[in-house]
Amino acid sequence: MKTLYETTQATFLGEKTLEQKYLELINEEYSFSKEINILDKIDWDFKDFTTQYLTHKFHSYPARFIPQIPLTFIKIFTKERDTVLDPMCGCGTTLVEAFLNNRNSVGNDFNPLAALISKVKTTLIDENEFRYFNKKLAVMKRYLDLDYRRVDERINNLPNRKISKIFNRVVISKLEAIRETLLEVKEEEHNELFDFGRVALSSTIWSLVENGNGVNVDDLFLKKVKFMQNKLNKTTKIIKIIPKVKVICGDARKLKVKTNTIDLIVTSPPYVNALDYYRAHMYNMLWLGMDFDLFRKHEIGGHSHFITNRFRLLSEYLGDMLRSIIEMNRVLKKGKLCVIVVGNSSLEYELIESHKFFATMSENIGFKPVKTIFRNIDKTKKYTSADIGKIDDEYILVMQKTNDTEVVANDDNFIEGVVKEQMIGFREQIKIVQGTSIRGRKPTKERLLKNINKISEAIETIPQDIKVKG
Ligand SMILES: C[S@@+](CC[C@H](N)C(=O)[O-])C[C@H]1O[C@@H](n2cnc3c(N)ncnc32)[C@H](O)[C@@H]1O
Repeated sequence: MKTLYETTQATFLGEKTLEQKYLELINEEYSFSKEINILDKIDWDFKDFTTQYLTHKFHSYPARFIPQIPLTFIKIFTKERDTVLDPMCGCGTTLVEAFLNNRNSVGNDFNPLAALISKVKTTLIDENEFRYFNKKLAVMKRYLDLDYRRVDERINNLPNRKISKIFNRVVISKLEAIRETLLEVKEEEHNELFDFGRVALSSTIWSLVENGNGVNVDDLFLKKVKFMQNKLNKTTKIIKIIPKVKVICGDARKLKVKTNTIDLIVTSPPYVNALDYYRAHMYNMLWLGMDFDLFRKHEIGGHSHFITNRFRLLSEYLGDMLRSIIEMNRVLKKGKLCVIVVGNSSLEYELIESHKFFATMSENIGFKPVKTIFRNIDKTKKYTSADIGKIDDEYILVMQKTNDTEVVANDDNFIEGVVKEQMIGFREQIKIVQGTSIRGRKPTKERLLKNINKISEAIETIPQDIKVKG
């Protein structure tokens, strides 16, 4: 990667960096047909680009996408004050990019932690408020040691005793002291600071889960707070008019968003059989008093069930994604774009090309696939889907809404019919297409036969598997 000095020198000598050329390209205005062609001029790998600027770095989040993906579509396909939606917004990458580029945005995620992080990343806080907060934290720090006497009381007061298994008594005591201080901040009606502090606390807990005990918790927390304040202050200086941001903690299959109101959707859904978000964030959620069990029930793509027949996960996933795409169609204005970023995954050594399923299913519900862009993921960067381990590329599916869909997301008969068609197609494909296995690991002949039988069984259970649980 070029150093800042080299980059500055290159600019000085008249040689533009890839990043500068990219920014020039997306800042131009184009006609719609040209806009689509501009997508071909972009190097989607975004190698060596700066990706963790401003509020993007507030909190780790598995399988987030790089900001340049939403940024590109926001810049090219919307104008200022338009409304951008991410129905599965995770840590709010799309929302932050909309915010920085003077677009209104709506973010939705069933994970309450995701909704909290997204909100905090797009909420500017006044300097006086930060002054009050810093004083409060200074008092907390000064009296922190005295609080060790109350460790047992604290452990008993924890939202869930499971937590005590991964943190030692000193760590628990300190985290509780921070939590109590934040509750005081809330009682004193500084709600935005309360949320801001909870994100810093959650980010501290994330570091503890990743690095174990032995970290100085209060110092780490205070460092995070300072870092976040600095980034928000910088953002405040950039934003001229504050765009509207609405964050909903809800289900993408039942969006609380008005029909035909959205100018662009950019989203990345969970992958089938890849990661349970509720598990990744369990400790954070417990500490913040959030209901991870409710989220677990509604999480799309989770893999902790259907252990004996993993292909049932696929039909369940396709059903959930079809419902979500129907909702995307409903809220999007006609002629506008819906961009879905997803990687391949695997089930029983069979390759699952989710983007292909999405493209075909969407054609039934008023979308026209415009383009599918392939991109390599830089595996050295933690923010990518490479977190999950086996995914090192992803696809950007670009679709245009051509019609208002005639079906509704809770039409089980329709969902059942489309998923059945997809599963039958998948069964036929693995019979005839060689090399459908992932990363060169082909299923043996025996396993292939077993898989075909399992898919047939999964087709039988579609009516129950596609039902929305909970
Ligand atoms: C790949 S992540 C999105 C990451 C996001 N693009 C970012 O940059 O942070 C997928 C998200 O889908 C969310 N999700 C899972 N099931 C959901 C549901 N039923 N409704 C809404 N969101 C859901 C997960 O909580 C997760 O945040």
